[in-house]
Amino acid sequence: MSRVFTWDGSFELLSDETMLEGLERQGYEVEYQCRSGYCGSCRTTLLDGEVEYITEPLAYVNPGEILPCCCRPAPEARVDVEVIGSYKKRQPEVTEDIEQYFEKLF
Ligand code: FES
Repeated sequence: MSRVFTWDGSFELLSDETMLEGLERQGYEVEYQCRSGYCGSCRTTLLDGEVEYITEPLAYVNPGEILPCCCRPAPEARVDVEVIGSYKKRQPEVTEDIEQYFEKLF
């Protein structure tokens, strides 16, 4: 079993899926072009865990990055992606000072 964790939750990958296919099935937003490991468009940050490559990628990846189009979690991986339309990760935390600021304005 391979499990993918994201900013919006987690899901099991089907036995015949790449991580990219699983992310798409679950409604996540991931860039891609070749879907074969040579363009680098799907480059994604691996936040935790490990992946195994189904086919050895030709595209360059920096340390801490993966290519979801040709890998699977081994057995778990946390990646820096969001469901399309989700803003959980980027929502600023509202502090008391900001709330007080807006109370004064209105
Ligand atoms: S889509 Fe081209 S390397 Fe992943």
